[in-house]
Amino acid sequence: MSAARGEFSSRFGFLMAASGSAVGLGNIWGFPTNTASNGGAAFLFTYLILVFLLAYPALMAELIIGRHGHSNAVTALQGLSRGRATYLLGTTVGFVGIVTVSLILSFYVIVSGWMMAYLIDPLARLAGLNSLAGWLTGDGLVRDSLFVLLFMGLTIYVISAGVKEGIEKWASRLMPSLIVILILLILYVVTLPGASEGLRAYLVPDFGVVANPHLIINALGQAFFSLSLGVGTMLIYGSYVNKRENLAQLGSLVALLDVGIAFLAGLLILPAMYVAQNNGVAIYDAAGGLIAGPGLILSVLPALFNSMGPIGLLVALAFFLLMTIASLTSSISMLEVPVAYAVENHGVERKKATVAIGAIIAVICLIIVANFSVLFDLTVTVTTEWSQPLGGLFFCVFVAWIWNRNGLLREISQGYPDVEQSLFWKIWPFYVKFICPVAILMVYVQLLGFL
Ligand code: TRP
Repeated sequence: MSAARGEFSSRFGFLMAASGSAVGLGNIWGFPTNTASNGGAAFLFTYLILVFLLAYPALMAELIIGRHGHSNAVTALQGLSRGRATYLLGTTVGFVGIVTVSLILSFYVIVSGWMMAYLIDPLARLAGLNSLAGWLTGDGLVRDSLFVLLFMGLTIYVISAGVKEGIEKWASRLMPSLIVILILLILYVVTLPGASEGLRAYLVPDFGVVANPHLIINALGQAFFSLSLGVGTMLIYGSYVNKRENLAQLGSLVALLDVGIAFLAGLLILPAMYVAQNNGVAIYDAAGGLIAGPGLILSVLPALFNSMGPIGLLVALAFFLLMTIASLTSSISMLEVPVAYAVENHGVERKKATVAIGAIIAVICLIIVANFSVLFDLTVTVTTEWSQPLGGLFFCVFVAWIWNRNGLLREISQGYPDVEQSLFWKIWPFYVKFICPVAILMVYVQLLGFL
């Protein structure tokens, strides 16, 4: 079975796929708005520290388990186990990851569907189809359901083609386009009146808020979501990396690309908000905070694009294309988790597995869409605030407490022969053993305290 396993054909392919998974709505939407509402550069600074001190070590844990196990999370963790108890624990962590990532995908696809609808809107207006445009940008069960199916269809299309022909091929095309579109949009928006105020809100720190534990938890949650940790996504991508690659270095490049693109997204979104304000669009909510949730992407920014005149259509098109691309390279990495399990452990043919699992998740999406006010926030909270960090914790526990140190060293030294003398090996094992688990546990203590 292992001979038939997919593998990334180059470092570039892996980097595009893994950073494509990491860079998504979390970076372009979540990060800038979190930053704006939490003290600007003070949040950015906290975030950078947490990414490199906590999220990067956890990312490495997943990549290494994946490459070592050469399989999905369930099998890889079972392989590291040392007896009945840890075998059961590994099986449970693997399965909880599969369920969690499927639920994350089910809310992610809904939001991605909105991005696609807003991408088609400027085209409809260009063609003079104004009632279609109104339907695309107005809330509606039919619109949401239709775009769930469309976006899920795209995700299924890419994943059914496999690791090289699907994930790697599309990520290698889409990620460079994303970076180009993002930079062009920034260059345009920062020239507009009002932009410099946005840059100030983003880049001038208010250190008064950094000590706030809420902010640190927020930043840690953001970092875990953004690096796609705790559910086996990075583990499965790690399992497609060959033994000649230096994983420690690849992992750090993925983390750098992720924070780099999040930072760039801030240079776009914050100035855009203040340009919108300059054009008469309200950017503060009734409570005096910056509008951050769906209101930002689905009403403030579209209002800004509308106020720009004809060029606004082009800007809207570029912006929602950016959002759709970012979503797609993330959603494929989520669908790959259950698909890889079905293919490897149950011998299901990849196309069949992808269509069947994609269809099941699409049904869950539709159930959430139909009961949006009850289910949407609940799904987001349970998966991203509870399940995901817990998964991250257990991946660290497996690497640092269950796997023996020599076996671990042997795995990392493949592709990195002098790792034993490196700074990485001096610091990282200690981090995954003590610092990461304690930091994640502290998040739970805080969460429980807030209940
Ligand atoms: N990291 C992506 C983002 O920032 C989302 C994502 C992809 C994800 N795969 C994941 C989140 C797995 C959690 C778990 O939008």
